[in-house]
Amino acid sequence: MLDDARAALRDATRPVAFSGAGLSAESGIPTFREAQTGLWARYDPMALASPEGFTADPELVVAWYNDRRRRVASAQPNPAHRALAGRRDVAHITQNVDDLAERAGATDVVHLHGSLGWDRCSAGCGRRRLIDMADPPSLYACNRCGHWMRPDVVWFGEQLPFTAWSRADELAAEADVFIVIGTSARVHPAAGLITAAGAGGAELIVVNIERTPAHGIQLTGPAGEIVPELLKPTRPRSDD
Ligand code: OAD
Repeated sequence: MLDDARAALRDATRPVAFSGAGLSAESGIPTFREAQTGLWARYDPMALASPEGFTADPELVVAWYNDRRRRVASAQPNPAHRALAGRRDVAHITQNVDDLAERAGATDVVHLHGSLGWDRCSAGCGRRRLIDMADPPSLYACNRCGHWMRPDVVWFGEQLPFTAWSRADELAAEADVFIVIGTSARVHPAAGLITAAGAGGAELIVVNIERTPAHGIQLTGPAGEIVPELLKPTRPRSDD
């Protein structure tokens, strides 16, 4: 299977990686939907990751995100992040809100669900502020319009950022190999990119610690082991 996947990648001209929480799991960042350990097994997503939850208790929501920020700040990129960063020819679309891909050296990651590293005005006045994730601020008001500032991430019921979504949609439609890494593919519209890539003719490669029902070449195991093997440069084919 790994050989098949590497062969597909060697011949690809527009390879794309699409990652989820499993990419950062080996860095110690919890995933969302895994039984016992997933964040949504322990916390109510509607209370912590929805506009309604923020309106009901903004201090609680900000405190929860600040815990996640501090955890990300103390985490390190793993070999899968580094392997992706080392392959500039592989476009990277992620659902992750951490900055581990960038800290591994990636410069052009499409963040579909926003970033923990920024706050933005909850009233949409356009104000954004870069956050020190190791020492994030408690709930505070926007200095332009006075409404609460909030983490610049996408919550349930919200639209994806337009520019990121447009780029991702285009990359998926044009991909000839689409590598799906560490996602349960249950959150739409992001997960629809997999279908779009397949419909556009891309070969799908699925890297997941569990076997998934997805079509394509299945590489079952930890991303930190499989992704570096998959992406390690191949020697050019000789003509003889
Ligand atoms: P999930 O928690 O739904 O899925 C994580 C996937 O990673 C599962 O399929 C696991 O089997 C797999 N996995 C876990 N550890 C792995 C490892 N070491 N190597 C490879 N695979 C591993 O996370 P996402 O699919 O990313 O939204 O969730 C999508 C969105 O739902 C998130 O972006 C988040 C959440 O609500 C927002 O924050 C807006």
